[in-house]
Amino acid sequence: MNRHDSEVLGGMLERAGFVLADAEDAAEVVLFNTCSVRDHAEQRVLGRIGSLKPSKREGTLKLIGVIGCMAERLGSELAAGTAGVDLVVGTGRLAAIPGLIERALASSGPVVATGEKGRSGGVAARGAIRPRAFQAYVSVIRGCNCGCSYCIVPSVRGREMSREPEEIVRDVRALVDEGVLEVTLLGQNIDRYGRDLARRPTLGQLLRMVDAVPGLNRLRFVTSHPRDVTDELLEAVRDCETACEYLHAPAQSGSSRVLKAMRRGYDRAAYLDMVERARGLVPGIEIASDFIAGFPGETEDDHSESLSLVREARFQNGFFFKYSPRPGTTAAALADDVREDVKRRRHAELLAAQREVSTDRNSELVGSEVEILVEGASKRDPERMSGRSRTWRICVLPKRHMAEPGELVRAMVVDSTALTLFCEAV
Ligand code: 5AD
Ligand code: SF4
Repeated sequence: MNRHDSEVLGGMLERAGFVLADAEDAAEVVLFNTCSVRDHAEQRVLGRIGSLKPSKREGTLKLIGVIGCMAERLGSELAAGTAGVDLVVGTGRLAAIPGLIERALASSGPVVATGEKGRSGGVAARGAIRPRAFQAYVSVIRGCNCGCSYCIVPSVRGREMSREPEEIVRDVRALVDEGVLEVTLLGQNIDRYGRDLARRPTLGQLLRMVDAVPGLNRLRFVTSHPRDVTDELLEAVRDCETACEYLHAPAQSGSSRVLKAMRRGYDRAAYLDMVERARGLVPGIEIASDFIAGFPGETEDDHSESLSLVREARFQNGFFFKYSPRPGTTAAALADDVREDVKRRRHAELLAAQREVSTDRNSELVGSEVEILVEGASKRDPERMSGRSRTWRICVLPKRHMAEPGELVRAMVVDSTALTLFCEAV
């Protein structure tokens, strides 16, 4: 969502007459679009602001702005406490930023605009600066009404607010006209799409509407809440030709006891039931998950249950995080009692378990065919082209195939590692 907001903001700034700088030290204005989900993300931003101080002193850099979740959370504290921050803009004021920059440049003190989180249900995707012409994000619901005990999102992003389906379809149609092949619908908790709208459209219905846009090739959506993955949604994924067979549905833990303390609204058995339903209804669907290691009170037994869930659910991929207490969340009132070295070990064990599963699953694909949307030269080996399968696997092609970014290639998997499928075009 932040990346998308940055792309939209970039487009707005260009239309307001700003020019994107080639490098950070050439910029007169630097904006940090920030995340508050873990303390580490916030610390990194503070470090980056600190490293800009010399250019601020020299006068090449005229304005440092902090926008997004961290700005919403800390507000004027950020302007007062962090020398050099001239502009602080919260999550609900994205569209006002070009004007606020002008105001801050003309003002002697910092400008702070927060407290209107959830004001916009989402911004139009059109006019965003997109790194790849053939891929686009479209925001469909913002905010989150869930109260997961560890999570800062509801307090910085506000209540759920959906965009009207017709508006979303209009966005997608315009993007496809510009050459977009792949659209990713975004929401913090996307399965709850439409519940705040008068006609209460479902995400499944939205997928069907977007799928009908002629010329669209791939449709994705993130992120799902395991409790809200309905059969009606899964049937839409199955029926829509463009809907990719991929579900990012974070489990967060494999222990029912910890899930209860996290207030996730499901237990281990219900999660596994969701996985089974998804696989039963959507042939070839892949499921990815997030896990938090070291939630308050997590025992070795709880941790073992997370490890065994990784193995049992056989995730396509996993994202693992060490628990980070967030001010104001209900879990912040609990003692952060899992020692840092224990968190680190549990995190490493989860990663290793997922690596084994991914290695296994990818090797099972050797000899089968995949469809690759080519994205560009491979980061590891510029001699090869890299892209993604429909199920979000990284696929690498030899350069001699001359595949261009944005091309759809049918390929045979010839080799694999935990993270990569090595392919030959068919
Ligand atoms: N500490 C660690 N990880 C967290 N996440 C959310 N809040 C926290 C926290 N306080 C993780 C969850 C979520 C992902 C985006 O970040 O796994 O799915
Ligand atoms: Fe945070 Fe839970 Fe909402 Fe996800 S569903 S954004 S983890 S509160």
